[in-house]
Amino acid sequence: MIVKIVENYLELSRLAASMVTKEINNCKSLVLGLATGSTPEGMYAELVKQFKAGNLDFKNVITFNLDEYVSLKPEHPQSYYYYMKRHLFDHVNISQENINIPTGCSNDLYKECYEYEMKISKAGGIGLQILGIGANGHIGFNEPAEALSVNTHLVKLADKTIEANSRFFKSPDQVPREAVTMGMGTIMHAEKIVLLASGTGKSEAIKQTLSGRLTTAVPASLLQLHRNVTVIVDREAAALII
Ligand code: F6R
Repeated sequence: MIVKIVENYLELSRLAASMVTKEINNCKSLVLGLATGSTPEGMYAELVKQFKAGNLDFKNVITFNLDEYVSLKPEHPQSYYYYMKRHLFDHVNISQENINIPTGCSNDLYKECYEYEMKISKAGGIGLQILGIGANGHIGFNEPAEALSVNTHLVKLADKTIEANSRFFKSPDQVPREAVTMGMGTIMHAEKIVLLASGTGKSEAIKQTLSGRLTTAVPASLLQLHRNVTVIVDREAAALII
């Protein structure tokens, strides 16, 4: 794992965006795995800036998002579909048919999970996967558990995740209790992974992720088995590793 410690959130966002830009510009076509949440917002803003400056072309980019809440329709302001439109897709030249986000509203979520996994496979797998990390060490919505799932699956959100994500909703009861998420295998099969973490709230999770020990109690710790992971952390998130 390569660990890059940067001064602050702005630097983290710029560095992450420059890595994505480089990958898009160096590949004929790229399958890009995307995350939502607060952490990558700055990276998306920077990517939009690069696109507007003419440095970036999304024509040959296919995206797959990590996860989506169960029960939120795409037009719900807290759905990850809505988030992606607001932060990236509405501002760049990506074509609609190249955008993939799991549906949390299907009548058959098991089928949805299977089909999502197949679609990633047919696209040739993820080339570059962007990840955030939960304070509890989750990646995607692979929550700490005795056993983790390999493929895209339906998951019950951890109480800590519901509590953390309640900041985006009017009240904690409005946070969906379940989500569809790529599995640990889906993520681990990505050719390259960039994990972003900002703020003191993530420092313990980052320490555990880089600890040299693997445990399903910290799903991100499994990334230590991957050959091409770059962890970009700001000083606050790096507080317990420096
Ligand atoms: C979101 C996702 C989650 C978030 C994590 C951190 O698509 O997969 O793993 O990356 O919950 O969220 P923030 O960035 O809001 O702290």
